[in-house]
Amino acid sequence: MTYNDSNFLIETEVPEGEVIISRTDLRGIITYANETFADISGYGVDELIGKPHSILRHPDMPRAAFEHMWKTLKEGNMWQGYVKNMRKDGGHYWVYAEVSGVYKDDVLVEYKSMRSPISNETKEKMQRKYDEMKLKNKDMIRVIRYVPFEEYVSMQ
Ligand SMILES: Cc1cc2nc3c(=O)[nH]c(=O)nc-3n(C[C@H](O)[C@H](O)[C@H](O)COP(=O)(O)O)c2cc1C
Repeated sequence: MTYNDSNFLIETEVPEGEVIISRTDLRGIITYANETFADISGYGVDELIGKPHSILRHPDMPRAAFEHMWKTLKEGNMWQGYVKNMRKDGGHYWVYAEVSGVYKDDVLVEYKSMRSPISNETKEKMQRKYDEMKLKNKDMIRVIRYVPFEEYVSMQ
């Protein structure tokens, strides 16, 4: 599991003005990813296409957040919320996300998502909120890696 990496605590900031765009089929399999999405997540565009969107799922995200996302989408509404995603290298990035259905002749054909940067205050607030949700639902997980002192010093 990549979240045992020392990168686990490293955050990649989404630059102001950048928008991460993706589209998925009805099962959540990625069908389109823009360059910004690839850059921020650490995957190549062609690595992302064909993979389930849950490839980015961070263990700090409560299950209930995505259950609510899918319920909202299935009811035909747009979901908006804050998401902490895991990069390919085990690091993370926070986004504000809007996810909604794409309709052709009134028929739902796929989903699309646009994500943009959020403030550090919001990240801290959401981290606390998601921790509380996980604790309440008893699905709290924290991965601790003990690094030998010499290795820690060489990482600095
Ligand atoms: C358009 C779209 C974008 C999504 N974006 C993300 C995302 O950025 N990160 C994420 O963890 N899940 C995202 N999801 C939800 C995933 O499909 C999945 O439900 C979630 O990662 C939880 O994984 P699980 O359903 O296997 O528990 C997205 C879904 C859709 C339809």
